[in-house]
Amino acid sequence: MSVKIPIYASLSSIGAYVPSRIVSNEDLSKIVETSDEWITKRTGIKERRFAEDNEATSDLATKAARIAIERAQIDISVIDAVVVATISPDFFCMPSTACVVANNLGIINKPAFDIAAACSGFIYLLSLAKSFIESQTYKNILIIGAEKISSILDMEDRSTCVLFGDGAGAAVIRATEDKSLSVLDVQCAANGQYQELLMTPGCGSRYPASAEILRERLQFIKMKGNETFKIAVKTLTKDVVEILQRNHLSKDEIDFFVPHQANLRIISAVGEALGFSSEKVALTVQKYGNTSAASIPMAINDLYESGKIKQGSKLLLDAFGGGLTWGSAILAFGGQ
Ligand code: ACO
Repeated sequence: MSVKIPIYASLSSIGAYVPSRIVSNEDLSKIVETSDEWITKRTGIKERRFAEDNEATSDLATKAARIAIERAQIDISVIDAVVVATISPDFFCMPSTACVVANNLGIINKPAFDIAAACSGFIYLLSLAKSFIESQTYKNILIIGAEKISSILDMEDRSTCVLFGDGAGAAVIRATEDKSLSVLDVQCAANGQYQELLMTPGCGSRYPASAEILRERLQFIKMKGNETFKIAVKTLTKDVVEILQRNHLSKDEIDFFVPHQANLRIISAVGEALGFSSEKVALTVQKYGNTSAASIPMAINDLYESGKIKQGSKLLLDAFGGGLTWGSAILAFGGQ
C-alpha cells in the first residue's frame, strides 16, 4: 500500500506592476468637483496610477507575472495553471484575461481562467490554488490579481472616481512538503443580499449593452460608499478574529497584517480593533488607491521590496469587496 505524503501550498514568490502614469488628487480636482483635502481626509489616498489607453489588464498582469516567475526561480514550462482575478477583464466576456496572459507568457495547453470576486479576488485565488495543490492536482500555479479599473470608472462621479487605481500583483503558488512554509488557512465568504451596494449594473445579461444603458452610464462602478464602509469594518474585524481563533494563533504571532487597501480609515479602524501596531500593518492606499483584486498582492510585494518580509514571515491577509465578498488567509511567506 502506498502512503501519500501530505502536500501543502506555499506562496513561493510575489511580483507587482503599476502603470507609470501618476494621477494626483490635484489632477482629479480638475475633472470633478473635489479636492486633495477631501480625498485625503476621507480615504488617505494621495495618488493612484491609471493605465494608458493602449494598456489592458492583461498587459499589467503579464508584467507582474514575469516578476513573480523570475523570483520563484522556476522555468515557465512547469506552471500547471494560470488563474486571474479581475473585475476589469480585457474582454467581455471571452477570452478570459488568464488566456491572454498565458499566451503572452508562452504557457499553452494548460488551464487558464478568470474569477470575479471583486476586491476579495486574491483571497479567493489563494483558496483555489491551495485546494488544487493539496489535492495534488497541480504543483505550480500562477495566480494574478489585476485591474485596469479606470476602464470602468465614471469620471463624472466624484464619489467613486477618486477611490480607485490600476495595477497588478502576481504570485507563484507551489507544492511543498514543509508545512511551516505554507498557506496555513484561507476562508472565503459572500453575501449576495448586499449586491446593490457595489456593482456595475449595465452590460451584463440583466441589462445588456444598449445606447440607453450607456447614456445612463450603467457600465460603470456604482457604490453606496457609506453603507459599504460600515459593513466592511465589522466584517473584516470579525473575519480576522475567526481565522486567528480557528488556527489557535494570537495577533502577536503575526508579522504583518495585510488588509485590502480601500480606505485608510477602514484599515486604521480594523487594525486598531484587532490591536495591531501601525508598523505591522501594510499600507499602500496612499500611493495606489484601491486596486481591487490587485490590492493585496501589490501590498505584499511592497513589503517584500522594502525588505520587511523574509522567508517564513507570517502574514495575515484580509479583504472585502463587491458581491459582497470577503475573505482572510494566514500564510508563511516564501516556501518552495
Ligand atoms: N469630493 C468631495 N466631496 C465628495 C466626494 C469627493 N470626491 N465624494 C463624495 N462627496 C460628498 C458627498 O456628495 C457628500 O456630500 P453631502 O453630505 O452634501 O451629501 C459628502 O461628501 C459625504 O459623502 P459620504 O459618501 O457620506 O462620505 P464618506 O465619509 O462615507 O466617504 C467613501 C466616502 C470614501 C467612499 C467611504 O464611504 C468608503 O471608503 N467606503 C467603503 C469603500 C469600500 O471599502 N469598498 C469596498 C471595496 S471596493 C470593491 O470591491 C471594488
